[in-house]
Amino acid sequence: MAASFPPPPPLLLLLANGAALLLPAQALNQDGLHLLDAKRALTVPAPALDDWNPRDDTPCNWTGVACHDHDGAVAAISLPSLNLAGSFPAALCRIPGLRSIDLSDNYIGPDLDSNNFSGPIPEPFARFTKLQSLSLVYNLLGGKVPPFLGRVATLRELNLSYNPFAPGPVPPQLGDLSALRVLWLAGCNLVGTIPPSLGRLTNLTDLDLSTNALTDPIPPEITGLTSAVQIEL
Ligand SMILES: *[C@@H]1O[C@H](CO)[C@@H](O)[C@H](O)[C@H]1NC(C)=O
Ligand SMILES: *[C@@H]1O[C@H](CO)[C@@H](O)[C@H](O)[C@H]1NC(C)=O
Ligand SMILES: *[C@@H]1O[C@H](CO)[C@@H](O)[C@H](O)[C@H]1NC(C)=O
Ligand SMILES: *[C@@H]1O[C@H](CO)[C@@H](O)[C@H](O)[C@H]1NC(C)=O
Repeated sequence: MAASFPPPPPLLLLLANGAALLLPAQALNQDGLHLLDAKRALTVPAPALDDWNPRDDTPCNWTGVACHDHDGAVAAISLPSLNLAGSFPAALCRIPGLRSIDLSDNYIGPDLDSNNFSGPIPEPFARFTKLQSLSLVYNLLGGKVPPFLGRVATLRELNLSYNPFAPGPVPPQLGDLSALRVLWLAGCNLVGTIPPSLGRLTNLTDLDLSTNALTDPIPPEITGLTSAVQIEL
């Protein structure tokens, strides 16, 4: 993983006339390059992210970026309320150590030219192998709440509240997220009944399915939520 390597030492260049030149051979690491790709894919109103400087060797000091202590790889992106606009930047999916992304309260998802038309959550989300927390609240996400999120086995918190998703069910696959502590799907245009599989979420403390059009019956399996302290249906 490129992100774990320390920056290369300066390059000593010996010239034919015996002179020596010390050239900085440092270059932004791979995680930083992915972040710059993500930034380029978005509309970013200045001065937000002006300190994302391509000449730094790591992105660890950039606004909204946190790195792992042990290897300096990017661990978390937190960019709420910056008026960022565009589709979800797939480049973020290529950052291997990423555990948490907060892009809430931005305009992520809409097609910029067709005001407030929104895209679905992209399938590459399913490839986050270490993601623990995903909050995409108050965006303009469309499509249905995607079943493939059930494959992000490391998720502890999932908050997709208040997005204009197309009417659809609570994906039963979310019951596979055994590490889940928080599941907020308020105002997500959910219809149908609560899938019994959610009862398998024994670590869930906080479930919010309010402000949807879910119908009875509440499945008896829901009593499997033995850790739950707050349930809003
Ligand atoms: C981050 O900024 C601090 C203070 O400006 C500096 O000492 C440190 O070396 C920087 N770290 C990285 C990884 O650039
Ligand atoms: C979304 O729609 C609202 C209401 O029409 C509007 O105020 C806002 O500017 C729109 N946002 C985008 C990103 O188009
Ligand atoms: C989920 O998002 C909503 C809307 O921003 C917020 O009120 C709520 O506190 C969030 N839930 C959690 C558990 O963070
Ligand atoms: C559930 O919570 C317990 C206690 O915090 C923890 O030991 C266990 O690893 C959690 N299970 C999962 C799948 O994360």
